[in-house]
Amino acid sequence: MGLPPNSASVPFSRSLSDPALEGAKSSKPSLQSIQFLTLFPELIEPALQASLMGKAVVRGLMHFGVTQIRNFATDKHRTVDETPYGGGEGMLMRVDVLHAAWKSITEVDPEKKRRTILLSPQGAHFTQPKARELLAYDELILVCGHYEGVDERFIELCVDEELSIGDYVLTGGELPAVVIADVVTRLVPGVVGNEDSISQDSLEGGLLKYPQYTRPRVYEGLEVPPVLLGGNHQEIARWRQKQREERTHLKRPDLLKKP
Ligand SMILES: C[S@@+](CC[C@H](N)C(=O)[O-])C[C@H]1O[C@@H](n2cnc3c(N)ncnc32)[C@H](O)[C@@H]1O
Repeated sequence: MGLPPNSASVPFSRSLSDPALEGAKSSKPSLQSIQFLTLFPELIEPALQASLMGKAVVRGLMHFGVTQIRNFATDKHRTVDETPYGGGEGMLMRVDVLHAAWKSITEVDPEKKRRTILLSPQGAHFTQPKARELLAYDELILVCGHYEGVDERFIELCVDEELSIGDYVLTGGELPAVVIADVVTRLVPGVVGNEDSISQDSLEGGLLKYPQYTRPRVYEGLEVPPVLLGGNHQEIARWRQKQREERTHLKRPDLLKKP
């Protein structure tokens, strides 16, 4: 399984056993593995075992590794943070400890096409097109900051890009890292059963999703639009496309302005 030494519990990888999945595996662009560097594995691991990410692992379509950064501290107190030079608020994560944790992953197979991403409120916003871009790598390393952040030299040495999940400040990078892993995993071919449902997702193709309805047909006087009940698939497709355009115009006009 090629797990890095000193990983925290990493029960997230299984081999591909169902021949029906071979096609899905061979058609995938590349991404097979997401590694998390964190001081709080307990914030990440449950999410990796549930729902779609858990299924992707069981079906052999994705591998997740969670590495406890503290395992790479060298002093007897296992110190991972220090006060900033020049004074200032709070504590910073040490470059030497972070670097050693990062090397424990990259040294396993140096040939892998990797992308190291630091979760940071200073990064570019994570978007659906960015998620698609990340599929081209074999492995993503998601580095979760904590405290006041990380020593800048770790960014210079190891980080390819910084990503933010929005203009607000979280306590740590663990939840943003799980967000990125979830978004990227569902784009891996074979993970979502019906690939068409992804192409119709909100934000795919720059449009929001059309309105959807299920039973009952009438609820509190509100009826399902008749076009959806008629069984004319062309008409339904036309109606849905029109709804996608109208909704985007109404709710997210900024998307229509993007090149
Ligand atoms: C309390 S924050 C540190 C913020 C830092 N002092 C600053 O002003 O840029 C701790 C960690 O949470 C993560 N984080 C916080 N907000 C984030 C966001 N919007 N997107 C991604 N990561 C975030 C980062 O990994 C960051 O290092």
